[in-house]
Amino acid sequence: MPCPPKSDDLVFFVNGRKVIERNVDPEVTLLSFLRKNLRLTGTKYACGRGGCGACTVMVSKRDPLSAKIRHFSITACLVPICSLYGAAVTTVEGVGSINTRLHPVQERIAKSHGTQCGFCTPGMVMSMYTLLRNHPQPSEEQLLEALGGNLCRCTGYRPILASGRTFCVICTELFAEDEFQPLDPTQELIFPPELLRMAEKPEKQTLIFRGERVTWISPGTLKDLLELKAKHPEAPLISGNTSLGPAMKSQGHFYPILLSPARISELSMVSKTSDGLTIGAGCSLAQVKDILAERVSELPEEKTQTYRALLKHLRSLAGQQIRNMASLGGHIISRHCYSDLNPILAVGNATLNLISEEGTRQIPLNEHFLAGLASVDLKPEEILESVYIPHSQKWEFVSAFRQAQCQQNALADVNAGMRVVLKEGTDTIKDLSIAYGGVGAATVSAQKSCQQLVGRPWNELMLEEACRLLLEEVSLPGWAPGGKVEFKRTLVVSFFFKFYLEVLQELKKLVKFMPDSHHYPEISDQFLSALEDFPITGSQGVQRYQRVDSHQSLQDPVGRPIMHLSGLKHATGEAIFCDDIPMVDRELFMVLVTSTRAHAKIISVDLSQALDLPGVIDVITAEDIPGTNGTEDDKLMAVDEVLCVGHIICAVVAETELQAKSATEKIKITYEDLEPVIITINDAIKHNSFLCPEKKLEQGNVEEAFEKVDQIVEGEVHVGGQEHFYMETQRVLVIPKAEDKELDIYVSTQDPAHVQKTVSSTLNIPINRITCHVKRVGGGFGGKVGRPAVFGAIAAVGAIKTGHPIRLVLDRKDDMLITGGRHPLFGKYKVGFMNNGRIKALDIECFVNGGCMLDDSELVTEFLILKLENAYKIRNLRFRGRACMTNLPSNTAFRGFGFPQGTLITESCITAVAAKCGLLPEKIREKNMYKTVDKTIYKQAFSPETLIRCWNECLDKSSFHSRRMQVEEFNKKNYWKKKGMAIIPMKFSVGFAATSYHQVTIAQNRSKLQNPTWKACFSDPPYSAAALVHIYTDGSVLVTHGGNELGQGIHTKMLQVASRELNIPMSSLHICETSTATVPNTIATAASIGSDVNGRAVQNACQILLKRLEPIIKKNPEGTWEDWIEAAFEQRISLSATGYFRGYKAFMDWEKGEGDPFPYYVYGAACSEVEVDCLTGAHKKIRTDIVMDACCSLNPAIDIGQVEGSFIQGMGLYTTEELKYSPEGVLYSRGPDEYKIPTIADVPEEFNVSLLPSSQTPPTIYSSKGLGESGMFLGSSVFFAITDAVAAARRERDTVEDFTVRSPATPEWVRMACADRFTEMTPTAKG
Ligand SMILES: Cc1cc2nc3c(=O)[nH]c(=O)nc-3n(C[C@H](O)[C@H](O)[C@H](O)COP(=O)(O)OP(=O)(O)OC[C@H]3O[C@@H](n4cnc5c(N)ncnc54)[C@H](O)[C@@H]3O)c2cc1C
Ligand code: FES
Ligand code: FES
Repeated sequence: MPCPPKSDDLVFFVNGRKVIERNVDPEVTLLSFLRKNLRLTGTKYACGRGGCGACTVMVSKRDPLSAKIRHFSITACLVPICSLYGAAVTTVEGVGSINTRLHPVQERIAKSHGTQCGFCTPGMVMSMYTLLRNHPQPSEEQLLEALGGNLCRCTGYRPILASGRTFCVICTELFAEDEFQPLDPTQELIFPPELLRMAEKPEKQTLIFRGERVTWISPGTLKDLLELKAKHPEAPLISGNTSLGPAMKSQGHFYPILLSPARISELSMVSKTSDGLTIGAGCSLAQVKDILAERVSELPEEKTQTYRALLKHLRSLAGQQIRNMASLGGHIISRHCYSDLNPILAVGNATLNLISEEGTRQIPLNEHFLAGLASVDLKPEEILESVYIPHSQKWEFVSAFRQAQCQQNALADVNAGMRVVLKEGTDTIKDLSIAYGGVGAATVSAQKSCQQLVGRPWNELMLEEACRLLLEEVSLPGWAPGGKVEFKRTLVVSFFFKFYLEVLQELKKLVKFMPDSHHYPEISDQFLSALEDFPITGSQGVQRYQRVDSHQSLQDPVGRPIMHLSGLKHATGEAIFCDDIPMVDRELFMVLVTSTRAHAKIISVDLSQALDLPGVIDVITAEDIPGTNGTEDDKLMAVDEVLCVGHIICAVVAETELQAKSATEKIKITYEDLEPVIITINDAIKHNSFLCPEKKLEQGNVEEAFEKVDQIVEGEVHVGGQEHFYMETQRVLVIPKAEDKELDIYVSTQDPAHVQKTVSSTLNIPINRITCHVKRVGGGFGGKVGRPAVFGAIAAVGAIKTGHPIRLVLDRKDDMLITGGRHPLFGKYKVGFMNNGRIKALDIECFVNGGCMLDDSELVTEFLILKLENAYKIRNLRFRGRACMTNLPSNTAFRGFGFPQGTLITESCITAVAAKCGLLPEKIREKNMYKTVDKTIYKQAFSPETLIRCWNECLDKSSFHSRRMQVEEFNKKNYWKKKGMAIIPMKFSVGFAATSYHQVTIAQNRSKLQNPTWKACFSDPPYSAAALVHIYTDGSVLVTHGGNELGQGIHTKMLQVASRELNIPMSSLHICETSTATVPNTIATAASIGSDVNGRAVQNACQILLKRLEPIIKKNPEGTWEDWIEAAFEQRISLSATGYFRGYKAFMDWEKGEGDPFPYYVYGAACSEVEVDCLTGAHKKIRTDIVMDACCSLNPAIDIGQVEGSFIQGMGLYTTEELKYSPEGVLYSRGPDEYKIPTIADVPEEFNVSLLPSSQTPPTIYSSKGLGESGMFLGSSVFFAITDAVAAARRERDTVEDFTVRSPATPEWVRMACADRFTEMTPTAKG
């Protein structure tokens, strides 16, 4: 190969140390460089698309114009390494460390209990750290803004926000604030003097960085840039790379030459004139925001209409990191159909200043430019130098609108810029412009409508006519980006209505100062509610728990809010996750190849082209498996037939990830499509396609009861699926050893024993040769119970075949595509009741979408049926459930295991009954709730005393009744905004349901026994756990147990138990990892029982050891722990013990419909209040109060964290998280940009959690309860509050009261359910 011309050296600093990179590859991102080259693994990969913030780091640069150092956060996954020339990068490791000095941000996030799995924590730390570098005492608004681009799937954000708030205001919560170190800005790393010198005297020469495929050219002058652009007209200008980067990654766009304008100061110029503002195209959106804010503060209001409209969208456009990276020029030139700024710039008559070697020229940023018409576009050799935005004038009004799935960090479904100029002193339209985003392939201008409205007065008649014209012109003919056609059409007119009112309101203000002027239509008080958008606000709240008994020894940590053991390590980036393990000798990378068809025969697989590529070592197929390829029904790799898009077919093994990924594209698979292709539950019912027999429970006589009731209601409920979205995707590292066919497997799993067993059967080697290690897992939520075994086994086949260690790290889109999630549900109910609201009979039939394999679907169906009654005593019940087999990836375990979906049907029945009886839902709930000791539908006895206490406390703590009245008052006064409230009770059974064996067939048993959760159920007894405790001669103790640290704090709790039992401080105890070599044959860490059963095993081991030490202690009662251990060692007493817990007696006989399947119940209640914008479908969460029965909490900080985190995850399920499939079964939503989990702005404004003091004592470790899953369902209180508000709107508009319950209650659902004159204008709109 010819030697490429020499590349320049890339010089930048990381954490104060100079980095000189010779022969840098422009395709390398900062994230990859930090993790692989510098081994700084604190910065995490979670999405690779700039959408989650896990990879946040701080960049510092000297601003050439202000000569000041700018510190800003960025997402390292989108930053090309070459863009960092002359910059200083600070990563979480550079902020502080446990061994040197913790930074206050790191200390406070850990001590405020703001970390659970810790995978998001370094990103959170870096966002807060950057904020504090710029604003040592930030405002609450700045804090929210800084954290808006960081996702956390575990904590529910409240404690993270609380830790950040300690820098803003004084507050006392679950931590002692006086323990915190003060923030001392003088202690921060300084900007490297060498970089300062470089920046002060910038070199003008062009820098060139040549990679294998791509050359990066960074000119030092504008002249050189223009020359280069003329020479390479096809080369893009790479500014923030937030548009180019994702396109190159996922759409395969490739550019051999990239031109960087980063060093051209002319592109960052800002000039203010008397009639407008010119902003350099190279300014970041964050800088644009500051520039506009400054101008708004300087100018009279009438001149800043356009600037204020832009500012409104700049607050919610993406997260802070993206706004810091993305340039104004890149934003405009990208012309995304969802662009938030282009519609406003277009209506605001912005002009683009273009420059090339030929000179300068101006073009208007108008509909022609936005539509990409060649005649008004940039020439290939031109660049955008700056943008001129004129001031607005008196009698000119500009507004911006946007509606997205959630308030922050989400692309808009529809956005708009609107501007009107009225003839002075009149209501006559002189000029009107309207532009919409999200409604077509580009920003759409409603030019014709606007022209026709010129000359019309600004009144109701004009409004009617405008809506008609707009709907005609912005036609959305059955297609729009992201679908949602009716919703988008409704927003087109709803936004215009808001604009109409806003202008009237502004006119009213103007007229105040002009006594004899024109009269404008009045807005009725009720309609004023259309005007205000919901602000982004932070969450406040109180967490209540019971303090330990004052007599408890100070050393005894049980019951105290102890910080997560790994909290500080999470915050400093020192916590090691699976992919943070350094590259091992001769390691190779594996990438999976999956089916692109939902149901097809595999005709051929041609690997030849892939195998020819450089770096590719092998392609692993089912033929390479020495042992068994999974089970008949659940194969590890498809052989002849694929059953879903995402079905694993083979796996490429190559020297690097990039090589393996490129090779996957060269594998040619031919298919023959098979019929039927079943995607939905309805399809499955039609084709009688089920994974297992129907599950049924019945009590009383349902039919007879229906004959005797006053009323009967029937209805349907749809609950969408949910993606686990654990921040750490699935990953595994398999290291084959030279001796005895041994394998070490480092894997992110909730069930290492299952991985071990599956690898053993796949490789056909005994289990004792395989050791699985789990240090910690970056979130699991059920998604890492079963699937990691598949990835582990395939990687192990690769390792055995090639003889190399294999690393397999799923990227986010593959993880979302392959792994499946929560089962979507469709339920039908028939409920019979008396006019006083007493329910006499309930018949529910439900179907879950299990996907293409059994996995956990039968168990999920059983759980669902067992738990459907929730908190209600209904004498005559019939519950039936079936798992549908479809051509989607197999759905699997997910926090709550069917309960959050199923119980939504039960609670929907309650609201339906309430509506029919004219009573409030809470009255129906109260009337039908269990009141005394009773038996469940499966005849398990229980006392509902705690349930009632939770309910009453929740009513009381939330001041429910008085607030309910206020909500009604509000609703009377406001037509376009409605409030809603709901209080939901919960009875949640903890643990895996034990099931009697005899009911299922042999074939079913075979597949079930492969299934991890079933394995747990059939193991005898079902809840067994073991622990191993070693005491070393210095008195230090190593604890090992069968539970895995998923973020739920199990290791912290286990050390609390061991500390109490051995009566030694927690600092003398340590847990290293979970390993199949130390504790064998474990059950999955799932079903909320991990801490309980493993705690009992740890307790047992400690008690055995203490018993052995007893004679020594008796002999020397004044001795220290170390003395006793020394004596024991000398007396040859074993200082190692295995603890075991046999589990609870539990059984369920499905034939009889009877059993005692669960060890105990967790009770709770949640009350939520929301406000809904009927015109857009948006909602604001005003307040949530949760009362949860934790009995004697082992660690209230951790337990409250579990309640809050699961509540917010549940809220996501019921409000924003929506999986979208094509009719052919292709998953569209494959990343944080398309799939919206809650962000920090989604947490209720007031969020209170109370742990119920001293409730009933369950038969568990120190009478604690497992709270991992139950909070999930309480998120439905938000859903029912939303439907309550929607019902209020429908009542007022005289629309039929019943409407199909559909979860998630997205803005689309809410807007269309709030049927009104605007929904009626869109012909196909349904109420
Ligand atoms: C996670 C995420 C969330 C987002 N959310 C939103 C959102 O909510 N709303 C929204 O509107 N947008 C959103 N965006 C899009 C974002 O606004 C654009 O990607 C960004 O503004 C593009 O700017 P850039 O500097 O990164 O462009 P680049 O990716 O660097 O370049 C994009 C294009 O512009 C060209 N270009 C750049 N500068 C010039 C110039 N001076 N002259 C000529 N051509 C030039 C390049 O050649 C290239 O073709 C989001 C993006 C991400 C990654
Ligand atoms: S990994 Fe970079 S933003 Fe998600
Ligand atoms: S702690 Fe935030 S993702 Fe786990």
